[in-house]
Amino acid sequence: QPRGRARLVKCLRKVETCLHRSIATNAVATQAEATRKDDAGEKGKDVPKSLHAVHAKRQEQAERSVLINCHSRINDKNFIKHLSRHGEIQKHFFYESYGIYAVVEFASQDSVASLLNEAAIPSISHDSMVPFKSRLLSLRSLSSEGLPNQQSGRQCKPQTTAPINELIQRLSREETIDQQITSLTESYQLTEENTRLRFLVCSLLKDIAAAYFPECTIKPFGSSVNGFGKLGCDLDMFLDLDGISGSGVKMPKSGLWLEYQMKRASSERAVTQSILSVIGECVEQFGPGCVGVQRILNARCPLVRFAHQPSGFQCDLTTNNRVAMKSTELLYLYGELDPRVRSLVFTVRCWARAHGVTSSIPGAWITNFSLTIMVLFFLQTRSPPLIPTLDHLRNLASPADKSVIEGNDCTFVSNFSKIQLHSNIETLEQLLYRFFEFYASFPFSRMSINIRKGKEQNKPEVAPLHIQNPFETSLNVSKNVNAAQLDRFVALCQESAWLLQQSGISTPTAHKEGDTPAPWGLATLLLPLDVAKIKSRKKRRREPASDRIKSLLESLKNKNQQNTN
Ligand code: GTP
Ligand code: MG
Repeated sequence: QPRGRARLVKCLRKVETCLHRSIATNAVATQAEATRKDDAGEKGKDVPKSLHAVHAKRQEQAERSVLINCHSRINDKNFIKHLSRHGEIQKHFFYESYGIYAVVEFASQDSVASLLNEAAIPSISHDSMVPFKSRLLSLRSLSSEGLPNQQSGRQCKPQTTAPINELIQRLSREETIDQQITSLTESYQLTEENTRLRFLVCSLLKDIAAAYFPECTIKPFGSSVNGFGKLGCDLDMFLDLDGISGSGVKMPKSGLWLEYQMKRASSERAVTQSILSVIGECVEQFGPGCVGVQRILNARCPLVRFAHQPSGFQCDLTTNNRVAMKSTELLYLYGELDPRVRSLVFTVRCWARAHGVTSSIPGAWITNFSLTIMVLFFLQTRSPPLIPTLDHLRNLASPADKSVIEGNDCTFVSNFSKIQLHSNIETLEQLLYRFFEFYASFPFSRMSINIRKGKEQNKPEVAPLHIQNPFETSLNVSKNVNAAQLDRFVALCQESAWLLQQSGISTPTAHKEGDTPAPWGLATLLLPLDVAKIKSRKKRRREPASDRIKSLLESLKNKNQQNTN
């Protein structure tokens, strides 16, 4: 009988976990769906799905928007009333970054023109003004009108993530590891407002670049739009001059025609460098809010780096970087196929950052891009695979999807509905554990990670970590990673897999109501792990497991007490 009861309890637990998983997965899926519905503007309307459609929609929104520096005591209602004189406001929000700012999106671009027409040129006594007008404005007030002393009623939308300690506490209050993973994704992913702000900054930059190239656009790429961006991530921008470069323009077969006379340069790279040099200079001299401009023109991919102070974004502007745009599209597609993809990538990225596996400083570390490819590769190797290989996506492509960039085949399907998924039912908890297990014993010394094939391949060159570039297949995206960093990654994977197997860590900690629970599950994995200790794990394995868990839990409890004090 007791054995029967134990079996029943175990069974009930399993049902509960499944339920939690389904609720958690649905929560992320529903949120993504809600965001898409919000993007579409009208319920029931066809939702833009491809990244191209998202770009077009967001760019158009950004063109109808302005960015205004406000007084901290500004009253929301008075502010909106004042601006509404120029036309209907579709959306607005406030945020804080070196002062209070408001993003205001009008229903029509004419309203922006009307507002700019009425804006004054600042009068200053000491400095001289650079006469460049933009959609970045300041709200001024002569009287106390509009600046009441009562509560402003304004709410600022956060544009950065909460500190890791707060995240650990939040995760510790969840009841399952699946819920923890979902909660982490929700806390870290880009918000609707942050995404709007990113597109607006690109649009403001386009106004500057348009002084030289009137038909240009500036598009965000990388984690700002690939679905894996964390609040606070950098803003990668692509100056798109394809409309001017002539590609795709059909020449008449006979008769007369006119063509532009254009200057020639020795190579595409030379053209890229001169464009970025000039735009970089322009951003530095005339770009309101752009500071710390660096022109890094001799890099493999030349770029202009600067900080956009009003948004708080660290910006990287590139041009002629179409392969990176394609990688962004591919990552976006994978993230849209199954909500578990995004959740797992977020969790692994956060875990990696917490342990210094990735860093904001360039060096011998694994990059977020490489790490994302590693997660995708792992998901392709599941049985059944959770996501298809890139070769499969290429085979599903229609003739219109064909894309060859600088001799590289970048073709893959754009119609998501053509992609049939296998019914993989692994939970997020299982996937996370198996991710660590997978890379804890991956034959890095011999094999290369390859998402085109979805199977490891023999390493074509000597490098501690080899991850084939999905589109420029002769390149290794993790060429920068040294053996020490790879060893650390493997040791941390081993330790994390081990931790997730311990019942004292993989189940919620008992706590009194109102108290902050001790870290458990995913929260434990984000706490500092002693790599030196991990490296001697063979020796530690000899210790009775119960002693080891006891001491670990003890140290977690102490940590928690320190955090809450
Ligand atoms: P964050 O760390 O959040 O900024 O992630 P990210 O994906 O934006 O990475 P990053 O800013 O370093 O690079 C921006 C984009 O450039 C990536 O998303 C890729 O599309 C591309 N990219 C970055 N590194 C490489 C690389 O080594 N090879 C190739 N082919 N593309 C890369
Ligand atoms: Mg980036």
